[in-house]
Amino acid sequence: MIIYSEKVMEHFMSPQNAYSMPDANAQGIYGDPSCGDALIIFLKVQDNVIQEISYLVFGCCASIATSSMTSVLAKGKSLDDALNITEEDVIRALDGLPETKAHCSKLGVSALRNAINKKGIEVITGAKGHAKAA
Ligand code: FES
Ligand code: FES
Repeated sequence: MIIYSEKVMEHFMSPQNAYSMPDANAQGIYGDPSCGDALIIFLKVQDNVIQEISYLVFGCCASIATSSMTSVLAKGKSLDDALNITEEDVIRALDGLPETKAHCSKLGVSALRNAINKKGIEVITGAKGHAKAA
């Protein structure tokens, strides 16, 4: 049985910043083919600072909690500082993760880096098109 810290359970039960952001100006995706978990991160960047960050995640308890914590750590940070957020930072902020779940912390951090580096991201073309498509 997997035992999670209280912090992990808190973020799993009430994930922070979990929503789709139609007017984001960057997005990054990361998926882990070994377990099928995947995450998309949305950023609103202004003056090199992450003003808003949100995500949609498909995955296990740990991937939801780590995505939530990644967003909390990245919000308000400069792009350079956000790039320096590591998996270990996320795990530490959650008061630890079971060893078999440590890899889940890679989802949020990698998607965030992809968004910042504009690697494999499409810039969303606007809220209107998105709303129409939906
Ligand atoms: Fe990855 Fe549950 S979805 S283990
Ligand atoms: Fe693979 Fe959670 S089990 S990311």
